[in-house]
Amino acid sequence: MTTYQTGFPTNFLWGGATAANQVEGAYNVGGKGLTTADMVPFIPKEKRGLNFAIDVNSDYIEKALNEEVDDRYPKRDGVDFYHRYEEDIALFAEMGFKAFRLSINWARIFPNGDDAAPSLEGLEFYDRVFNELEKYGIEPIVTLSHYETPLALTRKYNGWYSRELIPLFVKYAETLFNRYRDQVTYWITFNEINMMGHSPYTGGGVLVDKLPNQTKEQISYQALHHQFVASALVTKLAHEINPDAKVGCMLARGQTYPVTNNPEDVLLAQHYNDLNLFHTDVHVHGEYPSFMNRYFAENNIVIQKEIGDDEILKQYPVDYVSLSYYMSKSVASNSEDYEQVSGNLTTYAVKNKYLDTSDWGWQIDPKGLRITLRDMYNRYRKPLFVVENGLGAYDKVEEDGSIHDTYRIDYLKKHIEQMKEAVKEGVDLIGYTAWGPIDLISMSTSEMSKRYGFIYVDQDDEGNGTLKRFKKDSFEWYKQVIATNGEEL
Ligand code: BG6
Repeated sequence: MTTYQTGFPTNFLWGGATAANQVEGAYNVGGKGLTTADMVPFIPKEKRGLNFAIDVNSDYIEKALNEEVDDRYPKRDGVDFYHRYEEDIALFAEMGFKAFRLSINWARIFPNGDDAAPSLEGLEFYDRVFNELEKYGIEPIVTLSHYETPLALTRKYNGWYSRELIPLFVKYAETLFNRYRDQVTYWITFNEINMMGHSPYTGGGVLVDKLPNQTKEQISYQALHHQFVASALVTKLAHEINPDAKVGCMLARGQTYPVTNNPEDVLLAQHYNDLNLFHTDVHVHGEYPSFMNRYFAENNIVIQKEIGDDEILKQYPVDYVSLSYYMSKSVASNSEDYEQVSGNLTTYAVKNKYLDTSDWGWQIDPKGLRITLRDMYNRYRKPLFVVENGLGAYDKVEEDGSIHDTYRIDYLKKHIEQMKEAVKEGVDLIGYTAWGPIDLISMSTSEMSKRYGFIYVDQDDEGNGTLKRFKKDSFEWYKQVIATNGEEL
């Protein structure tokens, strides 16, 4: 009789995921340099719309550096994980976490990005965090770059637009690979590498306004090429330093559907899926897919490569493919005939009448995760890792301090169910780290009130609050999910 995998594998990595700039705070403590994330102000919803607050330009940076300016910069303070990591990791351990995905803040290790030697104080902070994780047997999954470029590199080189960042990043990675060789096996090079196309500042510390003679697309594909080469070089290095190291790439994956079966719509959806998946194509297959070559030619995009770049990409592919998944989108070639959906960055994106949306306009689609996993596994045949998924929602604290977040449980349950179906269908899925296991500062809006956590943090959008941690109803629920390896949802 033919057999198949009937549930999650026994060594499945259940856990949660965060990013340094959204949790740590202590932005000027321990010798840390400023980063691009420290320059992003909080802008109330009335002034910005639902999602992305701003794409930072040079003026914002000058304003942010002027201490007299009275704006709030929430990512400077995060939720004080820097001082409260012991309490937070103990709570993760109580939920039974097998894995915790965190990022290292480059500017804690090299405050200016190009310093001659790393900061010992910065390294010692992460030593303490890794020791704490080890105490509970929690596997760290470490992102090298999660939306925080040392600000000095933005000001000096215009971030990843410059090739100069490649050797600096390799040196930073080498420092970490050597120091944490025995403590970290799983590395991720760049968080959501495709962010570069949407917000070059967020994805690569690039100020588009500094390059007035080039299109945003030209700039971002050039910067992206530098990240691809850097990613391949550090993959090589990680394996040299520790042959057991596993290095992954990371994509913000949103399945795109055609709104109808009109071949025009189907082709458009395929086009957007390919534009998204080309990032992981490069990481896995080690070359730019031919459809991108046509796209570049037709859009007057010229990527400056150096001799040897193509060989580097080819020789050092990733070991696994990680992704974030929050929503799907639908596209229509005649998009004006359909209701538009907020929170999508594509002109052709329209509302999918079969799906609900979150309070931030993100279309909730658990089955889309299964479709995505099957597609990606068929395309790559590499282990997949869902390193972000979750529901950003407003939570209400009851008088007795309880938080009944049934909507979050419902969202996660449905996504985990579909992940399990994908596993049954043969997808090699190695883990799941829910986004923001503890409430943190939103990446796109710098809000605190957009909460993802199993653990509530007492802080509001203005930065007021005790920072005390409380368990939500989802805390016990997720604990049970992990304890039963996803059998009891
Ligand atoms: C991903 C990012 O895009 O989505 C995270 O990797 C981010 O950093 C998460 O926080 C959720 O987005 P947001 O904007 O709700 O914080």
